[in-house]
Amino acid sequence: MNKKLGILSIILIIGVAIAAIFPYVTFNSANSRITLDVDFPLHYTVLTLHIAVATIALISGLFQFHARFRASYTVWHKALGRVYVISVMVSGILGLVLTFYAENFTKAMAFLALSLLWLFTTWKGFRYAVKGELQQHRVWMIRSYAVTLVAITSRVIVPVCILVYLAMHGFKLPSGGRAQMVTDILNINVWVGLLMNLVVVEWYLLRPRK
Ligand code: HEM
Repeated sequence: MNKKLGILSIILIIGVAIAAIFPYVTFNSANSRITLDVDFPLHYTVLTLHIAVATIALISGLFQFHARFRASYTVWHKALGRVYVISVMVSGILGLVLTFYAENFTKAMAFLALSLLWLFTTWKGFRYAVKGELQQHRVWMIRSYAVTLVAITSRVIVPVCILVYLAMHGFKLPSGGRAQMVTDILNINVWVGLLMNLVVVEWYLLRPRK
């Protein structure tokens, strides 16, 4: 990847992550952006733990794709790799729990697919590293991180979804007003982000090499 594009992507990833995490750094459940289920007293605890550990996965994963870092600091690559795999496993399982408390079925199914793909691709990448099959390890870890990045793309895509939504409604708000539009969009943005990332990553992995 060209250096400028790489730096811009890192700034975007960190910026979007900070905005997403911000309401949860106070550990005050009143600031939660999702509705907490009163029948599940640990909902907020599981949510904040998921977010904290997912952030570790997001940051530790960022370093792994820098070729010079990998070559010069192999010990660090392996250590951060372990941190990444453990954090995906922990945060993915917590994400799976949260899926059952998501308010909307379309959204819940997106998170279910996302959790399972996150756990599966990361596990495959880890197993290939243990077996010393480094080419397959690289391929599956790129897929795993593409799934991690759905947390970013699904948020970045929201303004585009708003535009498409309004265009499809003749640039008028639906009968339920702005709130209905936001709800409708937040029920599908994870699907859109997931689809986009999977297409881009497979295109990248399957492209003919010179
Ligand atoms: C890629 C695998 C991931 C899965 C399967 C997953 C799963 C979930 C689920 C099920 C929820 C609850 C949503 C709801 O009830 O409406 C949630 C919320 C959340 N997750 Fe994740 N997540 C993932 C990655 C991440 C990452 C990498 C971050 C870090 C930036 C993150 C940050 C958040 C935040 C901030 C929330 C609270 C919702 C909000 O305020 O927007 N997640 N996640």
